[in-house]
Amino acid sequence: MDAFEAIRTRKAVRQYTDRPVPDAVLDRVLRAALQAPTGSGSQAWSLMVVRDEARRREVADLVIAGGAQYFAEMRPRGDATPEEHETACVAYAEKILPTYRIAPVWVMGLLVPRHNYPERMAGGGYTDDLLSVAFAMENLFVAARAEGLGTVPTSAFQRFEKDRLRAIVGLPDEIDPVLVTPLGYPESFPEGLPPALKRTYRGWRSLVHDDAWGNTRD
Ligand SMILES: Cc1cc2nc3c(=O)[nH]c(=O)nc-3n(C[C@H](O)[C@H](O)[C@H](O)COP(=O)(O)O)c2cc1C
Repeated sequence: MDAFEAIRTRKAVRQYTDRPVPDAVLDRVLRAALQAPTGSGSQAWSLMVVRDEARRREVADLVIAGGAQYFAEMRPRGDATPEEHETACVAYAEKILPTYRIAPVWVMGLLVPRHNYPERMAGGGYTDDLLSVAFAMENLFVAARAEGLGTVPTSAFQRFEKDRLRAIVGLPDEIDPVLVTPLGYPESFPEGLPPALKRTYRGWRSLVHDDAWGNTRD
């Protein structure tokens, strides 16, 4: 699969099988991730690979519970009481994400501060470090797709419980698990857009401006 095909067919995968990922395949994907550009060449990043069964399960439980919390914040409550709404959101997260518990690998993209920027550049340096982790993770998602592996960038689901996520793998407070993803062979790769996104999706021509703002290709 060439790079364009891998980029085009990479999709957020939320249903996994328990098929093991061979070590050599995993290493190829991890190395591709860390070939991303990094601001000032700082390498203010690391990848946490979670394969231990008990720890994987803890991460999955946390992400699924975080998902329920995310839905409770984002979805309209309607006539339901807060308790009914919460129960419905837990049930929904359990319905759509249960295979997170069998995915054979989780990877966390970590921002590891290197304290290498002078004080007056700390803000910009932080942004560069954050962008660099994102680039590494996108490399990982695309390389995984080329290997037939699914991923899903996940931030919101663990945002509520970052300290608990840190505790599972022994991360010091200053290390930020920016994004996490299951990594595993999917039941299938999603195609097209889910209906909810289709309604608001902006096509590429409306997002490309030639020479001046507003001069889009649509
Ligand atoms: C920064 C970022 C954070 C995301 N966080 C979550 C998340 O917490 N949970 C989730 O299921 N998907 C998450 N996603 C996945 C997006 O929902 C998904 O990429 C988007 O809907 C487009 O679908 P596609 O990736 O299949 O093209 C995140 C994506 C990005 C880029």
